[in-house]
Amino acid sequence: FDARSHSQTLSCLRSPEGERLSSSFTVAILGANGGIGQTLSLLVKMIPLVSDLHLYSISSVKGVAVDLGHCNTPSRVKEFVGLSQLADALKGIHVVVVTASAPRRPGMTREDLFDANAGIMTSLAEAVADNCPDALIHIISNPVNSLVPLAAEVLKRKGVYDPRKLFGVTTLDVVRANTFVSQSKNLNIIDVDVPVVGGHTGITILPLLSKTKPSVNFTAQEVEELTIRIQQAGKEVVEAKAGAGSATFSMAYAAARFVESSLRALGGDENIYEYSFIESDLTELRFFASRVKLGKNGVETVMASDLQGLTEYEQQGLEALKPELKAGIEKGIAFATKQP
Ligand code: NAD
Ligand code: LMR
Repeated sequence: FDARSHSQTLSCLRSPEGERLSSSFTVAILGANGGIGQTLSLLVKMIPLVSDLHLYSISSVKGVAVDLGHCNTPSRVKEFVGLSQLADALKGIHVVVVTASAPRRPGMTREDLFDANAGIMTSLAEAVADNCPDALIHIISNPVNSLVPLAAEVLKRKGVYDPRKLFGVTTLDVVRANTFVSQSKNLNIIDVDVPVVGGHTGITILPLLSKTKPSVNFTAQEVEELTIRIQQAGKEVVEAKAGAGSATFSMAYAAARFVESSLRALGGDENIYEYSFIESDLTELRFFASRVKLGKNGVETVMASDLQGLTEYEQQGLEALKPELKAGIEKGIAFATKQP
């Protein structure tokens, strides 16, 4: 990820040559009046590649849509409220972002959200299958480790599943890893890139600190402390918010970066790489977060190199996360397959 080019794109509506960038992609945000949804809607409104922004929620999203509609960026904003308008919200969409769902509170794990969020994810995946089967689907809702496999099964049942187009958004783990490492080693944050693989909860979040770019040495204690901080960063925010939800601003920032990268790849930009939780055969697990090259049809290549030449600590972390990640994946699949 090139943080410099990302912030340039977000902050200016012209290419470095001064030409107007073309705006031709439609994006739908499901759960647009939520904590993540509102900030993400603003950030996506600022992406010059977007021509139409559809804001959907079960309760009124009018205020967000009218407010954002006054920003003089190219995209048109439309609001869609309630299940009766969901199909219209999704027609013609290139990228759907799913944030509709409950966040956790102190004392809860992400897995505790499964019962509340699995049904919501099922109905949204069905609607995506019926109305924009070719769209890229970005799932932010938790637990990501289970809801992505669940959505895959729903799409499969509908006959439209394309593993290249279904993504669990793990970008925030990379964003956090880059931030914490640059702070701890006093590096220029714009230059730092830390691979984070596996899944999106607890020990399934596996930062590969030995592969940090630029190359940097860590003591064993630094590796241990940074790894735990990255794995527990969601909890750090949940506790700081003390009952008012989980990460929203940093998540919206990370999600906007992932949307922008996806649109640039759809538009034919080469060399777009992101980390995401996708179906792959990188490990024996059906789903695994890894670095992927994005292209015009979603995932173009799953980058195997990050998992090669791991340190002993990382290799142990990889083996340790597998049973938990496998259980999360199977839980999502089991829920979807028992649905009528
Ligand atoms: P929030 O409660 O502030 O917003 C959720 C929104 O979803 C609300 O506006 C609500 O009206 C809407 N909603 C609920 N059910 C819906 C339905 N059936 N259809 C349409 N909309 C519906 O929550 P938030 O803080 O925005 O978090 C949303 C989700 O994102 C949570 O599951 C949270 O755990 C997850 N999250 C994931 C990451 C990640 O890294 N992947 C990071 C932060 C949060
Ligand atoms: C995060 O990583 O911040 C999210 O998954 C939200 C959470 O519950 O921790």
